[in-house]
Amino acid sequence: MTGWFETVAEAQRRAKKRLPKSVYAALVAGSEQGITVDDNVAAFGELGFAPHVAGLSDVRDLSTTVMGQDLSFPVMVSPTGVQAVHPDGEIAVARAAASRGIALGLSLFASKPVEDVVAANPQTFFQLHWVGSREYLLHLMNRARDAGVVGLILTMDWSFSEGRDWGSPSIPETVNLAAMTRFAPEALARPRWLWQFARSGAIPDLSAPNLAPPGKPAPTFFGAYRDWMSTPLPTWEDIAWLREQWGGPFMLKGITRVDDAQRAVDIGVTAISVSNHGGNNLDGTPATIRVLPSIVDAVGDRVEITLDGGVRRGSDVVKAVALGARAVMIGRAYLWGLAAGGQAGVENVLDILRGGVDSAVLGLGHSSVQDLSPSDVVTTTPSNTPIASDSRST
Ligand SMILES: Cc1cc2nc3c(=O)[nH]c(=O)nc-3n(C[C@H](O)[C@H](O)[C@H](O)COP(=O)(O)O)c2cc1C
Repeated sequence: MTGWFETVAEAQRRAKKRLPKSVYAALVAGSEQGITVDDNVAAFGELGFAPHVAGLSDVRDLSTTVMGQDLSFPVMVSPTGVQAVHPDGEIAVARAAASRGIALGLSLFASKPVEDVVAANPQTFFQLHWVGSREYLLHLMNRARDAGVVGLILTMDWSFSEGRDWGSPSIPETVNLAAMTRFAPEALARPRWLWQFARSGAIPDLSAPNLAPPGKPAPTFFGAYRDWMSTPLPTWEDIAWLREQWGGPFMLKGITRVDDAQRAVDIGVTAISVSNHGGNNLDGTPATIRVLPSIVDAVGDRVEITLDGGVRRGSDVVKAVALGARAVMIGRAYLWGLAAGGQAGVENVLDILRGGVDSAVLGLGHSSVQDLSPSDVVTTTPSNTPIASDSRST
């Protein structure tokens, strides 16, 4: 395949080269000093393996299930809200996930309607934030249900922190003439990216179609974000109410503490994702792979557990599964693939991860991901060498 790349780090380099500076910065995201963004990646580097050399298995089963969905390997696409970086956005990602036999989470802030995404991949979970009134939430949920989504993900780890030491991108409210004029010098420096949109006849869509109130047009991304910021914050009773209203598979995303995991189990969620929003929540929250074992110990027999944050390699996936996650969810890794090569770029990233999972399962002497256990992982001394692909390098 032309444009094939061999690692996620290379996808990131290509995304950086291809995208206008502020668009790339929107994918890098992160908060404050970036301690958590970096720790998510670094903590995987502090875990190692002790591979066998003989008696290995020729055939390996990588499949698993999460919330009733079959996954061909233990990876799902985590919901992210900035896929308008490519004209095909969430549709390209959904098709790539379908072609590799995995499920995806669709962000509430997505740039494509949920109906079109479900048509591209029937294994679509719809992600909600607690936004607006209960009536409005019911409307959003019912629309997703009618579209045929297979479950709901409620993301709770957002604390509206502002500012990044490496600077935040300036993204326009809508892409009108004034915004295009302001953005022109940056975009003209990336002619291939501009050409991609020109060829598709579309301009980057900064509206949020899945947040449209009944009978009203889609709000702008930032208009919707402001509504979310001004919504009174939910209690555990509110979340229990939402779960009951939904009735089907329900994931609570953003858990980093044992007591919150226990509360989530008490209100009857199907799954939790151990997540710090990819380092976009409170900076200083530890890497998710560090907190996973205590959460698995506390509630692992009562709820399905996934992990997201810092996954860049198949071996990261295997470390998380060995420590008790059923699967991981990925964010930036596929966003870089999307920016680098659209659907094919996302497929390329998924193939890299799948290959890495298979290789680690082979080396560890297992014939199935189900056989992985904490004894497969060894703790290595933290290295002073900086991780090569610094997630937030802009
Ligand atoms: C640019 C960006 C946008 C995101 N948007 C959302 C979102 O709309 N909803 C959500 O639940 N999580 C969102 N996330 C968090 C991801 O779902 C996921 O938790 C995180 O990216 C995992 O970390 P990783 O990027 O290191 O893989 C976003 C993350 C990034 C980097």
